[in-house]
Amino acid sequence: MRCQVSENSVKIEESLSGEECSSKIFEMSGAKFEPEVACELWEKIQQHKWLLSERLSRDVGARTACIDFLENMDQAVDEYLSYKRKDVLNEMGAQTFSRDIWDTISDSQPPKQLVNRRIILPLTMEDLSRKHGVNPPRTIIFFGPPGTGKTHFVRAIAGVLSWWFIEISPSMLMEDGADKLGANLRRTLEKVRKLQDVVIFIDEFEELAYCRDEADRLDKCITNEFLKQVPLFKNQSNRLLLVCATNYIRHLDPALLRPGRFDCIIPVGGLSADERKTILDYYLSRINVGQIDFNILVAQTARFTPADIQYLFEQVAQLAFDREVAQGKDCKVNTEDFLNVMARMHPTLTDEIIEEFEKDSLTYSRV
Ligand SMILES: Nc1ncnc2c1ncn2[C@@H]1O[C@H](COP(=O)(O)OP(=O)(O)OP(=O)(O)O)[C@@H](O)[C@H]1O
Ligand SMILES: [Mg+2]
Repeated sequence: MRCQVSENSVKIEESLSGEECSSKIFEMSGAKFEPEVACELWEKIQQHKWLLSERLSRDVGARTACIDFLENMDQAVDEYLSYKRKDVLNEMGAQTFSRDIWDTISDSQPPKQLVNRRIILPLTMEDLSRKHGVNPPRTIIFFGPPGTGKTHFVRAIAGVLSWWFIEISPSMLMEDGADKLGANLRRTLEKVRKLQDVVIFIDEFEELAYCRDEADRLDKCITNEFLKQVPLFKNQSNRLLLVCATNYIRHLDPALLRPGRFDCIIPVGGLSADERKTILDYYLSRINVGQIDFNILVAQTARFTPADIQYLFEQVAQLAFDREVAQGKDCKVNTEDFLNVMARMHPTLTDEIIEEFEKDSLTYSRV
């Protein structure tokens, strides 16, 4: 990056790259800044040099100006850095989620307990983690069939930690064309690595980390870029969590799955009767419910994912709404309505999908 100076600011004689600005500031003051930040600070130091010279009526050297600027502008620099972070958060469409999402997940639903023990508690009980030498995971993969709640879990984690949530989608990285994907991926991850208190989420991870043996040349480059980028998250001192999700764990490059890159590889599968009860309760509280045999609902949703349950409730709610519009009187949802909608549905979890998932869980899980 070259220093850009606006028309009415002080004239800078030399145009320096970010790296050059960074090393100049380091030589003069011993303070180290990322090239992008250094470039903007260098412009301000030049302005400060001019201001200081004017104030003292003599030509102040660059080193004096640099040290004076950094010493007296500590607070300004901090504010400036946090301002820059806000810029990046905005640019990346950072969201926040309520802590309530965590409570929509039944305590017995895997991997809630595991996530709590391995991720939430070590990150929130920092002193205890330090005392026991526990390093909270920084890089995680969730895998499992579609609609089992992987994204929901990641949002719940961001909510319970009160951290920002940034989703990076493969389509977003492909905006400038497929051949720029690798460069966009690197630039995006470099940016988010400077943030604080952020859960970075990459869905459909297999699109970015496809097994190199089966991938074409472009895919191989992207997977290679990922292999370089993931370990960099582990060297960061700031509070960041990179979570990737996939339906196709076996399509990921084996090098990514080996210990050292991702700290945890966590399966997210079907729901037990108790876990379905929590989700059914959650959705029942949101519709105009009448006489319901709850046990029938629990029994009949054995192969349902959370996404299937959500769809079932959307359909049933619409049914009651249409009925009330047609009849002009209060219409409540009953067990029969549920059974009628279920009869037309094809739950996601078939024997084959469950069997494959169980095999994958044995082969790939690492917690
Ligand atoms: N415990 C839960 N309680 C209520 N709703 C849930 C729960 N878990 C998931 N859902 C809902 O189910 C739907 C599917 O969940 P989600 O999108 O997290 O699945 P996914 O595993 O990420 O799916 P995909 O693999 O297709 O990306 C979402 O609308 C989500 O809000
Ligand atoms: Mg998802």
